[in-house]
Amino acid sequence: MSHDQHQKVDFDLYAEKYEALLQSQLSFFEGDRSYFTRAKVDILQELMQERQPKAILDFGCGIGLSLPFLKAAFPGADVYGSDLSEKSLQYVRDNIPGVTALPDGDLEKKRFDLIFVSCVYHHIHPSLRSEVTKRLVSLLNPGGSLGIFEHNPYNPVTQRMVSTCEFDEDAILLRPAETSRLLQDDGGLKLASKGFYLFFPGFLKALRGMEKMLRPLPLGGQYFVVASKS
Ligand SMILES: C[S@@+](CC[C@H](N)C(=O)[O-])C[C@H]1O[C@@H](n2cnc3c(N)ncnc32)[C@H](O)[C@@H]1O
Repeated sequence: MSHDQHQKVDFDLYAEKYEALLQSQLSFFEGDRSYFTRAKVDILQELMQERQPKAILDFGCGIGLSLPFLKAAFPGADVYGSDLSEKSLQYVRDNIPGVTALPDGDLEKKRFDLIFVSCVYHHIHPSLRSEVTKRLVSLLNPGGSLGIFEHNPYNPVTQRMVSTCEFDEDAILLRPAETSRLLQDDGGLKLASKGFYLFFPGFLKALRGMEKMLRPLPLGGQYFVVASKS
């Protein structure tokens, strides 16, 4: 299927029910939905210790579930969220204080030290991913970092969740190698860190302290690749 035939999900239709749908999808793994968001922001916080970002963009922020966590983890930073869905951005403006919702078309007016992209690339057709990556790299300040957090296509539980989720109808999952290639080869960035996370469901909570050690194992529900501009 060519990308112009590729029917993209309209997230305007999900702004009101996104959180509830996510909750029902993920509750088998962990009842506290914020666990999934915190896991990502904790990784970013760990990786950004040496260089505290002053301007952070959550690209494809949706209704902004990560924005309060980014604000709390990086209290000295200006935090922005952008999305193609204007209804989602309006939800951010109405519900999340202390952050700025930016229409996609305004992004070129700003530069960022950290761009966080969570579960967005699998909604972007593969033929467009290189172009999107180059655009995001152009929005980074020198020394800035771009972090892509994605579903792990090797994990059968993740595959099943994606195939039964109504707002994932247009999803085409990316292998970690593709994500690394986009950032390094297409974006010209230098790899900072990569790994898998979300290994243990709630009933194995006690083992979560081992997650960092397990990052090389392709078994976690999701993975991240973070790379930086010289
Ligand atoms: C599954 S939601 C993820 C939202 C949020 N990042 C999160 O982790 O909860 C995917 C979001 O990506 C946005 N999106 C899809 N393609 C995009 C693109 N090319 N540029 C910007 N946002 C995009 C959608 O509008 C939607 O809000």
